[in-house]
Amino acid sequence: MRHLLGIAGWRRDELEALLDRAQAHLPGGPDASHVLRGRVVANLFFEDSTRTRSSFEVAARKLGADVLNWSYAGSSVSKGETLLDTARNIEAMGPAVIVIRHRSSGAPGLVARHVKCAVVNAGDGAHEHPSQALLDAFTLRQRWGRLDGRTVLIVGDVLHSRVARSNLLCLKALGARVVLCGPPTLLPPGLEEMGGEVTHQLDAVLPQADAVMCLRLQTERMSEAFLPSQREYSRLFGITPARAERMKPDALVLHPGPINRGVELSPVVADGPRSVILEQVANGVAVRRAILEACAS
Ligand code: NCD
Repeated sequence: MRHLLGIAGWRRDELEALLDRAQAHLPGGPDASHVLRGRVVANLFFEDSTRTRSSFEVAARKLGADVLNWSYAGSSVSKGETLLDTARNIEAMGPAVIVIRHRSSGAPGLVARHVKCAVVNAGDGAHEHPSQALLDAFTLRQRWGRLDGRTVLIVGDVLHSRVARSNLLCLKALGARVVLCGPPTLLPPGLEEMGGEVTHQLDAVLPQADAVMCLRLQTERMSEAFLPSQREYSRLFGITPARAERMKPDALVLHPGPINRGVELSPVVADGPRSVILEQVANGVAVRRAILEACAS
């Protein structure tokens, strides 16, 4: 595996092989501190991040790598330096892998065409966020064994969500049924062509779900008013304790973070027994260790 730019184009057996590899990177697994010893992983984050950047950093350090953390704040981007100039300069410092997050779809692909090292997409615009989809699939597989025949309901601002796109591709490839639900203004065209089912009726579909993945309203990516109000959104699409009551008894709740508590997800549900949100974060390190190992070898 040279780069990880998206889930699109991956076969089921390739995804499963990566998830199997991640299994060996769970806490308590064999020491892997020699895997990237003496090598550098460069984090290039042109957008804010809490989980993804820290998770790649912890993963890289567990593999013995040195980590170069670059962020746009305080960088020469403010002086007009281009994406490719920034990437080429970081590459000149010799990293084995560049992990990149950017507000523009396709930015990691562009960088990958101009550098010799491996490139991992840590989220590009509304396009893809493959490491998030892989850690979500890993978490569900850990709970269920297999995803075949399971229904995953993705609820919220699908239009602006790279997490939703990558998850739709990944979960479908692994055999799950994927239903996407949200207000018509926040569901992009083309989801059915990618294998998804689309609905605006949350209460009708909720009892069918084996897992519900909540998405944040990504207001910083909204160019216009897509909703009457957040309160109206919560009334129609928020995962409240009353809605959680109507889910299957063992249905799980996921969220990629950051959570806007009380908007898309009630705090009681986020911190309740259905929630696997912190399992997602913990598994993220193992999955990213597997990704870095695969890309750097
Ligand atoms: C998401 C992102 O940045 O795409 N967060 C993440 O990486 N886990 C989702 C979001 O911003 O809402």
